[in-house]
Amino acid sequence: MSLLDVAAIKADFPIFDKKMRNDARLVYLDSGATSHKPQQVLDAERTFYTQHNAAVHRGSHLLAEEASAAYEGAREIVSHFIGADVDEIIFTKSATESLNLLAYSFSNTNRGVFALKPGDEILVSEMEHHANLIPWQQLAKRTGATLTWFGTTDEGRLDISKIDSLISTRTKIVAITHQSNVLGSINPIHMIAEKAHTVGALVVVDACQSAPHFALDVSTLDADFIAFSGHKMLGPTGIGVLWGRAALLAQMEPFLYGGSMIESVTMESATWAPAPRKFEAGVPNMAQAVGLGAAINYLQAIGMEKIHDHEVALTNYALSGLQTIKGLRIFGPLDTVDRGGVISFALDEIHPHDAGQVLDQYGIAVRTGHHCAWPLMRKFGVAGTTRASFYLYNDLSDIDVLIDGIAATQKYFKVS
Ligand code: ALA
Repeated sequence: MSLLDVAAIKADFPIFDKKMRNDARLVYLDSGATSHKPQQVLDAERTFYTQHNAAVHRGSHLLAEEASAAYEGAREIVSHFIGADVDEIIFTKSATESLNLLAYSFSNTNRGVFALKPGDEILVSEMEHHANLIPWQQLAKRTGATLTWFGTTDEGRLDISKIDSLISTRTKIVAITHQSNVLGSINPIHMIAEKAHTVGALVVVDACQSAPHFALDVSTLDADFIAFSGHKMLGPTGIGVLWGRAALLAQMEPFLYGGSMIESVTMESATWAPAPRKFEAGVPNMAQAVGLGAAINYLQAIGMEKIHDHEVALTNYALSGLQTIKGLRIFGPLDTVDRGGVISFALDEIHPHDAGQVLDQYGIAVRTGHHCAWPLMRKFGVAGTTRASFYLYNDLSDIDVLIDGIAATQKYFKVS
């Protein structure tokens, strides 16, 4: 078991000084929804506003130059983090916006590999969270294409057994989550992408739950686009990333139109700047991008492999502990093979929202409900689950508190 020095890490996160209900310490098991921010990220944003604030790519004054350098510096940090070229990194406001940008850009382009018509298929999976489902559902509606999907096995893994019938010459786009936000299962992107590319389909990977937790390298992943958000990886809200292959970005029409994304403009028409600026209309979320750069520096100083090992150790420990609780059902793999630190569970006779409220009395923050993944809830026949998700600032004692909290919940509802 390989564990990080959590006490030292926690000292960087001011939120852990806060007392929760009943004077309990914060046991934060909701990083799948959003992560906390270290002082280094808060300082980076503050320094941007107090020392360098100006609209990037516009002014000729000192502050504009510094702001542009800070913003473009953040883009470089992101590009190194995922092994991409710097011009392939597009800043958006969120992963949701990144995925909508793609879907709208494809239909705005509507030629070559981006053209969709009745009879074509967009392949997703039943385990997508809504951000990587609805944009594709709507793109299918706009173009007459058909949405198809991989199912989920009862164990909570992607049902890859039907890949040969699901990916055919009709398939134009494959959009798949790297790691399920509900089940924790990590999907075989490389294998799916290899097959998708044999039929000329584009491969989009939702990396919201993977980029924060393990090393990603787009040069080996074999995807064409990936999307992730800053706030789940110690960065600020209001910043997301879209990575795309340069050759594809060059052919794509913009999603949003306005300042900064143009090459030239007349009253009748306009031409576009090259990527990434073509996709970044308006004054961007500059301080947030700088904050994301600081977050990535923080993660890399610890090391993504160490973070992943730490989370695997926590997940192993939690899976063992939770399985000893009578009346608790886990959704998702029961081992840590191709599985991240997200554990969803249901308690017999206790609604997840009620469980969440009792756990909150002990300072335990979990997510309850459908986790923006309704189709998956339907598949497992539940209205919602309780979800514990781990990050680098959690340790084994957090899991002990969770397990005691579940016992207290069952006692409170007299179901133990
Ligand atoms: N995908 C986010 C979560 O799982 C919304 O909490």
